Amino acid sequence: MQIWSVPCTSRVRLDGKIAVITGANSGIGKETARDFYRRGARVILACRNVEKANAAINDIKSKPFRSSRNEKLEGKLGHLVVYPLDLSSLQSVRECAQMILAKEPAIHILVNNAGIMFAPYEITEDGFEIQLQSNYLGHFLLTLLLLPKIQSSSPDCRIVNVSSVGHMFGKIHFNDMNLEKSWSYIRPWKAYLQSKLANILFTKELEHRLKNANISGINTYSLHPGVIKTELGRSFNSTIIPGSTLFYKYVMYPFIKSPEQGAQTTIHCAVDEKVANETGLYYSECQVTRPSCSATDDQVAKDLWNHTCQLLDLELNENFSVFLENVSHQFDEVIHL
Ligand SMILES: NC(=O)c1ccc[n+]([C@@H]2O[C@H](COP(=O)([O-])OP(=O)(O)OC[C@H]3O[C@@H](n4cnc5c(N)ncnc54)[C@H](OP(=O)(O)O)[C@@H]3O)[C@@H](O)[C@H]2O)c1
Repeated sequence: MQIWSVPCTSRVRLDGKIAVITGANSGIGKETARDFYRRGARVILACRNVEKANAAINDIKSKPFRSSRNEKLEGKLGHLVVYPLDLSSLQSVRECAQMILAKEPAIHILVNNAGIMFAPYEITEDGFEIQLQSNYLGHFLLTLLLLPKIQSSSPDCRIVNVSSVGHMFGKIHFNDMNLEKSWSYIRPWKAYLQSKLANILFTKELEHRLKNANISGINTYSLHPGVIKTELGRSFNSTIIPGSTLFYKYVMYPFIKSPEQGAQTTIHCAVDEKVANETGLYYSECQVTRPSCSATDDQVAKDLWNHTCQLLDLELNENFSVFLENVSHQFDEVIHL
């Protein structure tokens, strides 16, 4: 069955560019890595399971041109490298950032892609609900830690946050981010939807703060990738009803996108020349789309930023450049403890 999916049409090359993709060992992250690799980029796969990431590298190298459309991307292939990153551990986020900052001369593209959906309720070693931390807080910290290097690699640097249309049903539970007061059956749902709304608000507020600090050459994007055949449904059996993972796989699969189709909006935001002058916006099917009202609320975006800094113990400062310096400094101290 032909699935309706808008492809990224850009044939731009990424020779000399360095891209970081979180959760690049499977699903749309892997297809994004494959695309950047054949455009000539040095691609950093930031993954929690190094073995799976190496298997993904082997797969990408053995099939860099998966479909005939991609054969049109002529030129040299890039490089693929793995850095360990477990977003559910802030220590791992700091270590990954430290390694990237120490070893890589630049970062031109950061794709915050990794995610879990409807995972069973769990509190991480840092004291946060697992989906909140893996999908949002970990990416927030990673982005801030990498931002000075992204800034020094600009212009034309891009930060892409993979969200979901599900954000429309989400709410930021400022007084209960860990959803401890929620009915346990619906916690995994609420947690996912909250984290995906947070991805969009972060994109918007980061754009706002960069602009106010007169930092140019770094654009931010958030997006819904579509409904895709990936491993994302792995927790459905335990948090929806037994058998729902199989239902998703065998009943839904013929009607939803392949991972390659699902990666197109991410690739569009990360590379396409047509969006080079757009920032802070939300995309679906390779075009700007209006997200829900709560995702466009400036005050909620600002409050979430401040609240996130409090949760992560980051010293607030209205001067964004000073704020970034403080975050990096704080992080140096933690790493050298
Ligand atoms: N598939 C869809 O229909 C759909 C729809 C809307 C939005 N999205 C979004 O698309 C993004 C990618 O998902 P996908 O569909 O490609 O699913 P996927 O195949 O399950 O890929 C998710 C990736 O995230 C990684 N990951 C999970 N927790 C992590 C952690 N703590 N630290 C580091 N990496 C972690 C996974 O690593 P492991 O392999 O080690 O678990 C995997 O590489 C997610 O943000 C998701 O919310 C997907």
